[in-house]
Amino acid sequence: MDWMKETNDQLRRGAFLMVDGNPMTIGWGQFGIIWNKQTFSVYVRHSRYTYTLLKNASTFTISVPEAGAMKEELAFCGTHSGRTVHKMQALHAELSPARYGAQDGFAGCSLHIECRILFRTDLDEHLLEDPALVSRYYAEGDTHTMFIGEILGVYKENE
Ligand SMILES: Cc1cc2nc3c(=O)[nH]c(=O)nc-3n(C[C@H](O)[C@H](O)[C@H](O)COP(=O)(O)O)c2cc1C
Repeated sequence: MDWMKETNDQLRRGAFLMVDGNPMTIGWGQFGIIWNKQTFSVYVRHSRYTYTLLKNASTFTISVPEAGAMKEELAFCGTHSGRTVHKMQALHAELSPARYGAQDGFAGCSLHIECRILFRTDLDEHLLEDPALVSRYYAEGDTHTMFIGEILGVYKENE
């Protein structure tokens, strides 16, 4: 489907993971099918403010910019923490109200994917089989939690 390709292509440059109005830039994520549900999974390090927000959340939304757009916003949301700055205010950005009961998206993005969290688990770096990846990504611990989200709805913002 077009929106899957659009998302996968844009993830190389970044998309926004939205929880409680805080946008975090993500580069990792994937579509899949598990428990007979269409899903999108994200990976969030424990040091992120977003991880703290997700502790009390049952949903998340992925907002995907149009190919190559919103570079400054992606860079800002990938280098600043919601712990110390209100990113949407700092960017003079607006929320796009949720349509399927998940989180509000980042207005101006091309595509929004609303998800309900089905499952969450920490990645155990000791089970990572490639030592080069362990030292590259987990030399300082700070592992990722994987959140598997059931896709509730996908839509173009202007449709
Ligand atoms: C292009 C890009 C992709 C990123 N992908 C991820 C990711 O998939 N998971 C993650 O935990 N952090 C990722 N980050 C880092 C977070 O976006 C960054 O630490 C952010 O400031 C955390 O915001 P928060 O503290 O408000 O949650 C990425 C950063 C960039 C620039």
